[in-house]
Amino acid sequence: MMIALTKTVKTKALKAKARKIGLAVAAAAPLMLCAVSPVQAAGSGFPLESPQIDTSKKKVLQRGAKAYVNYCMGCHTADYQRYSRLAKDLGLSEDDVVNNLIFTTDKAGETTKVGSLMSNNMSTDYGRKAFGVVPPNLALTARSRGEDWIYTYLKTFYRDDSRGGVGVNNLVYPGAAMPHVLWEQQGWQEPIYEGEGEDRHFVGFNQVTEGTMSAQEYDSLIIDITTFLSYMADPIKQTRHRIGMIVMLFLLVLTIISYFLKKEYWKDVV
Ligand code: HEC
Repeated sequence: MMIALTKTVKTKALKAKARKIGLAVAAAAPLMLCAVSPVQAAGSGFPLESPQIDTSKKKVLQRGAKAYVNYCMGCHTADYQRYSRLAKDLGLSEDDVVNNLIFTTDKAGETTKVGSLMSNNMSTDYGRKAFGVVPPNLALTARSRGEDWIYTYLKTFYRDDSRGGVGVNNLVYPGAAMPHVLWEQQGWQEPIYEGEGEDRHFVGFNQVTEGTMSAQEYDSLIIDITTFLSYMADPIKQTRHRIGMIVMLFLLVLTIISYFLKKEYWKDVV
């Protein structure tokens, strides 16, 4: 009798424990699987294109970094990011980075050190005077605006003589103060509209002057740049994915071991 009693008490306790563990696993699983969705930025309502962006591709990132320092860094900073970190993440040696990617100087006039942040020497005052607005820090733009926004933005600059100053406009960001810095590569285009009044809608671009790149080459250039900006906005994404996989694998092994352990423990109980 005594033995039987302890047995049921034990069984009950074990069952409660098993239920608790089951509940914990059930509660944790969706949390682990649920990915944080990127912020959808509000914009002009212009339909955004969705290029394939893959920040695990080192070659794309290297090309993107090069284009970024050549074409964008004169105006934009990205000073949450260090060159040394860039070297490590992009699979480059620090010498490669010093020789190919650092064109700026520090306050003392010496070439920027590899451990420094990726900032430029444009003062905010100058930026405001030249463009009316300070060129924003692009380190987190891929999160605030989204990759599709950046890609489509870089694709939809057009000549607009009605705008004084830069004489350029943008379909995604109408009235943007940024000049079309990649005009040599893309050439100049003008939008074609159809319909009148409320029905007026954009149907495509008319290429006015040819650029040095074909349309396809240009698309892949801006994919490189967008991928690089996306990497900068979340430099540890790849590490996180790797750790995530290891954790999932660990949980799988643990589940298998727990299953056999449970079988072993319950062998004499039921
Ligand atoms: C000649 C200076 C200059 C250069 C070079 C330049 N930009 Fe800009 N950029 C600006 C200015 C000024 C703005 C602010 C536009 C505004 O808000 O009206 C801007 C805005 C942006 C924005 C929008 C940011 C936001 O959240 O509003 C993005 C994205 C951007 N630039 C990307 C680039 C990329 C990529 C390059 C390199 C291919 C580049 N820019 C080169 C001046 C520049």
